[in-house]
Amino acid sequence: MKLLAIDTSCDDSCVAILETDTFHLLADVVHSHIKAMAAYGGVVPELASRQHLKALPLALDEALTQASLTLNQIDYIVVTHRPGLIGALLVGVSYAKSLAYALGKPLSVLNHLEAHLLSPFLARTQNQNPPPLPWIALVVSGGHTELFRVEENLTHHWLGGTLDDAAGEAFDKIGKLLGLPYPAGPVIDKWVREEATREDRTRFKIPRPQTSEFSFSFSGLKTHVRQIAQRPDFQATDTLALIASAQEAILGSLVKKLRDTKALYPHHHTVVTGGVACNCRLRELLPEAYFPAPRHCTDNAAMVAALGALHHERGTLAPAPLNCSALSR
Ligand code: KG4
Ligand code: ZN
Repeated sequence: MKLLAIDTSCDDSCVAILETDTFHLLADVVHSHIKAMAAYGGVVPELASRQHLKALPLALDEALTQASLTLNQIDYIVVTHRPGLIGALLVGVSYAKSLAYALGKPLSVLNHLEAHLLSPFLARTQNQNPPPLPWIALVVSGGHTELFRVEENLTHHWLGGTLDDAAGEAFDKIGKLLGLPYPAGPVIDKWVREEATREDRTRFKIPRPQTSEFSFSFSGLKTHVRQIAQRPDFQATDTLALIASAQEAILGSLVKKLRDTKALYPHHHTVVTGGVACNCRLRELLPEAYFPAPRHCTDNAAMVAALGALHHERGTLAPAPLNCSALSR
């Protein structure tokens, strides 16, 4: 079955096509709207919705060209309907519903977070296996920092998450207050990797949040960084060390929670997904963890297609009625 997947949960217009039986990824297109958002230092929801309106038809054309298919050869359509920016989701869901109606093909709505969570199954598109189940999985992105237990039958249990900011949001906001462009996460990762010394990583003492089991918190850490940057004796030349120390604190908190959780579930494999899972230092700090390929850690529709294929395989791909709607949570 040729499955077309659409994701517009935030500021990327994503379309992918997957052959479900073979897990052959026929097309994987991401139109990023980072440039349009950079002027504002973050995602402007209304602007993201308008960008999706323009970009989705182009992304679909590009995906069909990549796959050498016509629309009529698509068998099934899946789209993420939550969680995310409601206006952005609304564009993707409306577009998918129109396609399904016009083509007379079935449509299913899927959860964006579940797509990130099970994105390690994209290993199958490379003829590789995902890490063996069960997993302790951390979904860590600009919108989420959530810990799950994933069982052999792919059912998953939410263990806990952030009480305030997501880790990616902390990267972006700390970067913004120190004058870095949006999104600051990848910029911080690269700058620290290329130029910071080992001492820079611990030069500023950033308090690690002491949250209860399975929960995270990053807003206090962010405020602390702001207070250091506002000290009269803080020099512009200290910025790299402050950023390196902040990155170490954010990642240290993720690593500690993951290891504490893993100690409770010694037979589970550790998995990390979502945009922050691209971070090189995080990958270095967690050699025992499985990370999907970086392009499938940030938002993409290939992971949505893979989720659709997994549900299809298990007989749980439920067709949605055409009055289905986008939901922010
Ligand atoms: O998964 P994603 O593309 O979108 C959401 O669902 O949120 O994640 C984007 C987030 C942004 O906050 C971005 O700064 C962060 O992931 N990010 C990184 C890196 N690459 C992306 N954070 C740290 N290091 C990176 N290399
Ligand atoms: Zn995401």
